[in-house]
Amino acid sequence: MRLSASFGAAMASTLAVCRLHMKGRGSLSKCLQKVDTFLHRTIGTNVVAVKEEREGCKSLYGVQAARQEQAERSVLVSCHARTNEKNFLKYLSRHGDINKYFFYESYGMYAVVEFANRESLASLLEEAAIPSISHESMVPFKSRLLSLRNLGSADAPNQRSGQQCQPQTTIPINELIQRLSREESIEQQITSLTDVYQLTEENSRLRFLVCSLLKDIAAAYFPECTINPFGSSVNGFGKLGCDLDMFLDVDGISGRNAKMPKSGLWLEYQMKRASSERAVTQSLLSVIGDCVDQFGPGCVGVQKILNARCPLVRFAHQPSGFQCDLTANNRVAMKSTELLYLYGELDPRVRHLVFTVRCWARAHGITSSIPGAWITNFSLTVMVLFFLQRGSPPIIPTLDHLRDLAGPGDKNVIEGNDCTFVSDFSKIQLLSNTETLEKLLCEFFEFYSTFAFNRMSISIRKGNEQNKPEVAPLHIQNPFETSLNVSKNVNATQLDRFVALCQESSWLLHQSDTNTPRGGNAEKAPTPWGLATLLMPSQVAGIKGRKKRRREPASERIKSLLESLKNTNQHKKS
Ligand code: CTP
Ligand code: MG
Repeated sequence: MRLSASFGAAMASTLAVCRLHMKGRGSLSKCLQKVDTFLHRTIGTNVVAVKEEREGCKSLYGVQAARQEQAERSVLVSCHARTNEKNFLKYLSRHGDINKYFFYESYGMYAVVEFANRESLASLLEEAAIPSISHESMVPFKSRLLSLRNLGSADAPNQRSGQQCQPQTTIPINELIQRLSREESIEQQITSLTDVYQLTEENSRLRFLVCSLLKDIAAAYFPECTINPFGSSVNGFGKLGCDLDMFLDVDGISGRNAKMPKSGLWLEYQMKRASSERAVTQSLLSVIGDCVDQFGPGCVGVQKILNARCPLVRFAHQPSGFQCDLTANNRVAMKSTELLYLYGELDPRVRHLVFTVRCWARAHGITSSIPGAWITNFSLTVMVLFFLQRGSPPIIPTLDHLRDLAGPGDKNVIEGNDCTFVSDFSKIQLLSNTETLEKLLCEFFEFYSTFAFNRMSISIRKGNEQNKPEVAPLHIQNPFETSLNVSKNVNATQLDRFVALCQESSWLLHQSDTNTPRGGNAEKAPTPWGLATLLMPSQVAGIKGRKKRRREPASERIKSLLESLKNTNQHKKS
């Protein structure tokens, strides 16, 4: 794969000079290789291959545990842009074997270095110096975020550094459009888009490392806590540059209770009581938020948003460039992350379609990084899953079916919500649907062009349209907290734009001048076609008001689009 190969090359170039020993880490490296394959598999669309792959699937918890362990043996080092890679590795490997490392840029150059053993890390931290700042004061909190200093001449400015930087953000949309236009089929365009957009191996490592650094801060109060990523950082649908959602889990302390003796004496901890779970979550986040703000190196712009439905602490982690949301007591979101991950693992077309629709939506401003009345990526993902459940035969099963397949160990009720579903992937039998990605994309747009949003709710639990239980332009049932609408924030204008863009994209994909490669040569930029055309500025995107222009065709092009859709529908009904 793209980055694994470049990483391999970087590794090879340094093998001769530093102690990147391969010996004695065989089993760990095999296990991590499996994990890596999981998070970043290159995906084909062969249904047989899918079944075989599924057999080797591992739960999200297994993946997370391995990644967490990796992160705990890692450090993040800020270095000079001209840092000499060989010298750097030689210097660090005095403390022990290095398993992996990579460089990246984010407000300066950084390196992530994973040691083979925790002892090596301890030795390195033992040796690290306290900065000598004469004119400023500093908070004496020692973390695994370090700075490389150099008093010698090893990294003279004219010396070539040699390190290769791993990208942490996606390519701009124009570049993507050009890249896609060079592909030979829409199928290839879709897989190419996923390749470019999905989280890389290095970016995933960095996400877990940031969680681990945060955990070191929270552990000052709660040594048994864990901080895990959730949402798109781990559900398989994350795009480079997506936010880092974190879950501070203290259930290891309060949830696990030693057995009470039937008689005799025993001791228990005295613990402060709070009025509700929510109050506990708020006070935890308030204190940890203050610690992050006051002591967390590289953590800036800390905001405590404690009155939200799901209280959180938001901040930017500058060394990684991640926008972070730290939550606590958010087990349901963890379950929905696990569910999305499972769906993404069941059939490769799921991830491809989600990536494509997410990218398309972002290109047209249907989704936004700013909170507001926009459709969110999570809602959009649920819409894609629902569409895939509605195929004939369905590509993925309903959540109710996954619950029916659950074993006794899968039973999980969180705050009264049934979050049970099967964890053993091999129990899930998929039906044989061999539709191409191109057809599926086209059908997705058609499906939502004519969906009865005014009356119906989307439910991946049932896998069919349900009557809307409340008035809201868009109603998408939360898979686990079934009385909630995940798209409650969406207003009618945004829904109208979504539908109009679905209609336009569906129409474009039916046009022969759009859906065939246009050719081009090496010197000239290729003419956009297929998926690339769908990502270009739309003629309907400007529809804003719902007043007079609401149902008016925006142009001749749209008029003909609406005609063609009407004909298609009439054709379907007859
Ligand atoms: N979530 C949820 N209910 C919601 C919103 C979010 O259960 N109404 C959970 C989902 O598991 C979601 C996660 O919280 O994946 C994180 O939410 P968010 O950051 O909004 O979505 P992501 O899936 O992470 O997508 P993005 O890449 O836009 O961050
Ligand atoms: Mg997110």
